[in-house]
Amino acid sequence: MNKAFYLETFGCQMNVVDSERIVDLLEGIGYAQVDAAEKADLVLLNTCSVRDKAERKVYGHLGRFKPIKDQRPELIIGVGGCVAQQEGEKMLEKIPYLDLVFGTHNVHRLPELVQQVEAKRQRGSATEFLDRETRLNLFPQRSVRDNITRFVTVMQGCDNFCSYCIVPQVRGREVSRPSAEIVTEIESLVAQGVREVTLLGQNVNSYGSKDESEISFAQLLRRINAIEGLERLRFATSHPKDMTDELIDCFGELEKLCKHIHLPVQSGSDRILKLMNRGYSSADYLRKVARLQQVCPEIRLTTDIIVGFPGEAEADFQATLELVKQVRYADAFTFLYSPRSGTAAAELSDDQSSMQKQQRFERLLALQNRIGEETWQADLHKVLPVLVEGESKQGEGQMFGRTTWNRIINFTAGTDLIGTIVPVKIIKVFRNSNLGERV
Ligand code: SAH
Ligand code: SF4
Ligand code: F3S
Repeated sequence: MNKAFYLETFGCQMNVVDSERIVDLLEGIGYAQVDAAEKADLVLLNTCSVRDKAERKVYGHLGRFKPIKDQRPELIIGVGGCVAQQEGEKMLEKIPYLDLVFGTHNVHRLPELVQQVEAKRQRGSATEFLDRETRLNLFPQRSVRDNITRFVTVMQGCDNFCSYCIVPQVRGREVSRPSAEIVTEIESLVAQGVREVTLLGQNVNSYGSKDESEISFAQLLRRINAIEGLERLRFATSHPKDMTDELIDCFGELEKLCKHIHLPVQSGSDRILKLMNRGYSSADYLRKVARLQQVCPEIRLTTDIIVGFPGEAEADFQATLELVKQVRYADAFTFLYSPRSGTAAAELSDDQSSMQKQQRFERLLALQNRIGEETWQADLHKVLPVLVEGESKQGEGQMFGRTTWNRIINFTAGTDLIGTIVPVKIIKVFRNSNLGERV
């Protein structure tokens, strides 16, 4: 009989990709995935430590598994991802019912760790960083399971050291994968039915910039754009300082490149951007946005913004509001600053009260909600091309797909449309998705 595993994934797309790899690896040693920890022989959390809240969640979830293990001591419990990377072996000491810990460079060692627990009840951890060569050989390729859209990792790690951010510590240094290998993978995905790929990296548009012999990110996009059978191309997440003119021009040239870019600005205040070590001013950022809008008038932007960075004053916050009004983001992920130990910003003194920060957070949210709603409401009654991805969770006979702006559209149609781009008329606009009808 098959053994069963339950896997929960937190954090960003890097973890989503790693989890897809985990599924393949565990299937390889006789496990099948189930949808509840109660039914599993092995439970795993793939964790995120980008903010304190994300990290605390891990301990909360682990606590949920304890009563199950009390009843069934043979249950194996493991933690992977960024919290595992950060805490390492210490986690085994802290949590007596935890069996294994694997870091962000050690996903491939999971089968071995699981088998050690199975055979000898031997707890284990693997959280060492690997060298460049080894990592290049371990870029996660995963099996295709009726996917229409796929993430393709093109680079890993981050060398930017934004002063607030834990990612460089938990993901290690930047490595870019050889372009020939990326193109081959995408060709193979397309042959298996994939129609849209999203190129992934923590700092995706610095791709190849540290390797003289590698092509630029813009050149990589051009090559991928030429792959026959591929319909759409996206990439995330871009750093504003690495938005070259050559890359911006791609939005005007490449017909498969979707008209959406996630371009985290973090703050509109030059003083705060400097303290954040972001490497651009608000004027630099706005110039790049203007150029994007010039080469591709239909482009929509989304962003990340941090509120309450140490020492952020009302004037700094006002500058952020101004920038948001000027860019008119279709959507923004807004975060309250969360100090991360070991980062430079954690050492900065902070004179703002948490109440002040909370109030600013809500002001920003109210502004962005209004702009976002105006943006999406403008699509009402428009007919837009939608790539149909699969059956919707909204109800029977409903399909879902996305517009070029990555907006989810639910509409009534048959499964035969999956994988095709069809015109859909928008008939209702909700907060995070739209309802459409086929025309
Ligand atoms: N590599 C991507 C994503 C990094 S994490 C990038 O550079 O954009 C995603 C977002 O989390 C960041 O853009 C930032 O807005 C937010 N973030 C990162 N560290 C944070 C912290 N310590 N407190 C609050 N938000 C944080
Ligand atoms: Fe973190 Fe900055 Fe790297 Fe993004 S670019 S992962 S925010 S250090
Ligand atoms: Fe979180 Fe790790 Fe991604 S800290 S945001 S899961 S790289």
